[in-house]
Amino acid sequence: MQKIPTSDGSFTYYSEQFSENYHSLHGAKSESNLVYIEALRKLFEQTGKTEICVFEVGFGSGLNALLAFEFAKNNHISLFYFSVEKYPIEENILLSETDSALYQKIIKSKWNVKAEIDAGLFLLKIKTDIIDFEFDRNPDVIFYDAFSPETQPELWTRELFTKLFHSLNSPGILSTYSSKGTVKQALRSAGFIVNRLPGPQGKRHILYAYKNSAEV
Ligand SMILES: C[S@@+](CC[C@H](N)C(=O)[O-])C[C@H]1O[C@@H](n2cnc3c(N)ncnc32)[C@H](O)[C@@H]1O
Repeated sequence: MQKIPTSDGSFTYYSEQFSENYHSLHGAKSESNLVYIEALRKLFEQTGKTEICVFEVGFGSGLNALLAFEFAKNNHISLFYFSVEKYPIEENILLSETDSALYQKIIKSKWNVKAEIDAGLFLLKIKTDIIDFEFDRNPDVIFYDAFSPETQPELWTRELFTKLFHSLNSPGILSTYSSKGTVKQALRSAGFIVNRLPGPQGKRHILYAYKNSAEV
């Protein structure tokens, strides 16, 4: 696992196992903000909910989790964030002395145990394969952040998206960085209404997939 700087000053990782970066080299934080945190913002602004549940596929470095908790804290949202990860990165690779207290808590929280990261901010990191995972709660937003459809075609299927569609609250949004035609098609056939949005630097489009309405 290699830690790599990206164009906006934030870091990503390179997985030798999958020969793929965890985020865009044009800016890990910028990409996470646009693809995932903007979906959370949209749900929050359009529903007015102050208790929100987010589910993430691929916890990875915890960057999406960190940004979601920062957003929740700044907007007085009570957040339950649960995330599945099949191949956790070791704590000592992720953490450095300069990391924020919030990030330290996120990374040091135990696998498979619910942790209160800050007042009203809950994290449950689950070490499992998304294919085997069974939901026991319903998210409002899903951050779909597996490796690419080229690398992991088994994680971008109609079958898997159908499971996610049924788990999602209504209204709800699934956001993902891939706008590949086959991904759009699989999401649509699972029941989602799919919108293509402008992507971050270096990426033309991203997808927001809605449950039951074109907008939340
Ligand atoms: C693009 S990276 C995710 C980046 C992460 N969201 C972040 O903020 O750093 C994809 C992640 O999906 C994980 N993954 C791959 N296959 C998986 C599976 N079958 N089930 C759960 N997680 C998986 C990888 O180990 C990796 O951490």
